[in-house]
Amino acid sequence: MSTREDIIVSDDEMTRQEAFMHSVREMNPEADKKYTISTYGCQMNENDSEKLAGMLESMGYKHTDELEESDLILFNTCCVRENAELKVYGHLGSLKALKARRPDMIIAVCGCMMQQKDVVQHILKKYKHVDLIFGTHNMHRFPELLYQALNTDAAVADVSASEGYIAEGIPIKREHGVKAWLTIMYGCNNFCSYCIVPYVRGRERSRRISDIIDEAKLLGHQGYKEITLLGQNVNSYGLDLNDGTSFSKLLRGLEDAEGIERIRFMTSHPKDLSDDLIYAMRDCSKVCGHLHLPVQAGSNRILHEMNRKYTREHYFDLVNRIREQIPDISLTTDIIVGFPGESDEDFEQTLDLIRRVRYDYAYTFLYSKRTGTPAAKKSEQVSEEIKKARFDALLELQNSISREINSTLAGKQLEILVEGRSKNNISMMTGRTRTNKIVNFKGETGLTGRLATVKIEKTGTWSLDGSLV
Ligand code: SAH
Ligand code: SF4
Ligand code: F3S
Repeated sequence: MSTREDIIVSDDEMTRQEAFMHSVREMNPEADKKYTISTYGCQMNENDSEKLAGMLESMGYKHTDELEESDLILFNTCCVRENAELKVYGHLGSLKALKARRPDMIIAVCGCMMQQKDVVQHILKKYKHVDLIFGTHNMHRFPELLYQALNTDAAVADVSASEGYIAEGIPIKREHGVKAWLTIMYGCNNFCSYCIVPYVRGRERSRRISDIIDEAKLLGHQGYKEITLLGQNVNSYGLDLNDGTSFSKLLRGLEDAEGIERIRFMTSHPKDLSDDLIYAMRDCSKVCGHLHLPVQAGSNRILHEMNRKYTREHYFDLVNRIREQIPDISLTTDIIVGFPGESDEDFEQTLDLIRRVRYDYAYTFLYSKRTGTPAAKKSEQVSEEIKKARFDALLELQNSISREINSTLAGKQLEILVEGRSKNNISMMTGRTRTNKIVNFKGETGLTGRLATVKIEKTGTWSLDGSLV
């Protein structure tokens, strides 16, 4: 039986990192140094950035949004699509002049991009103003690496090639006060043929169920109302523990986390979504009626080429089984257009699937060639022009479906969790329904963190307007 001790960072090592935190703090006696973190990519990166912020605050650094006044600028990077990488290079380049004016400033780059050797070499060669580089597998060593970077003029680069650890007990400074990310597992075993994540995040490693439940209870105690469980494929949570732990058991185990009103999770891989999980979603009162179930493509030929390990028929069957048990569930998805060799007929199958499933929302991506993945080697790459045309057609179809589904909510009374003032219009408050739809309404700031009932008055493609009942 697997104990998790094999890959959990030892208490001794965590104590060693605490000592480095202490040493960095001593170099900052007034605790007046400032930091900026720019985060790219998925929610797991956002959760990692909250831990990096937590470590920095423990070292006496304060957050700022102003690059000019920062003593440390950290980029937590993503490489899932080329665009994400280009943005990082652009921002790094633009810091050269600032670093020349403020040589004591530390510029650090971490995250998924740094798990690629050629990227690290490129940065070391072309962006000489970067002081510190580390990857995703050794994030817990940030205090030690920062200490080194503060005490040398040379660039510090530590990109561990290992399969990665699980570090428990890293200090954390969360972005929101109402809802919290909770990473339950790291890595991915699926090797979808277009995707770089398994190469940069390593194999699946599940946290101990007791550590997750303890964290959820602590969050409830601290006043958080909603948790979102994170993993590249949460459906396979626990399999590597070899002790019968499963995702549905975890969901059931989280039901009595006091104070937590809502539980969400992402992402679910259709090949691993079991009836057990559907029943757990149905039975657990805190688990919200929303499922993000990326389909990626609607053609069986492309699904096979993508190494997704399911067919459209299997997917339809799954959606039917879910809707049978949880009729009001909202469904969202990810779709890639322009996978190598995708023909007009293949794309038509994707549109057809969208018309049949009728998602509440779909995240659509232009296929991006990622060096090192099997799909990048395929000769029949689709032209940018065709990709763009398919993207636009898909968006138009999906938007009309989203609008139609949302319009059926007009006049209904729905429970929302109030998240605070709307960023787009500060005269309005904003919250989400259990199905994850944004509702804007007029109300007091003091409602933040409360469950409220709103009557839906106006519906749009991406959000709803309502009034308190
Ligand atoms: N583990 C999750 C999400 C991973 S990344 C899952 O399996 O669903 C988020 C999304 O990015 C993916 O669902 C996919 O739609 C998209 N994506 C991944 N690699 C891509 C690539 N090379 N080009 C375009 N989109 C990509
Ligand atoms: Fe990438 Fe597929 Fe893993 Fe998702 S399941 S992270 S798309 S390899
Ligand atoms: Fe990007 Fe890494 Fe997430 S590649 S999508 S930040 S796991």
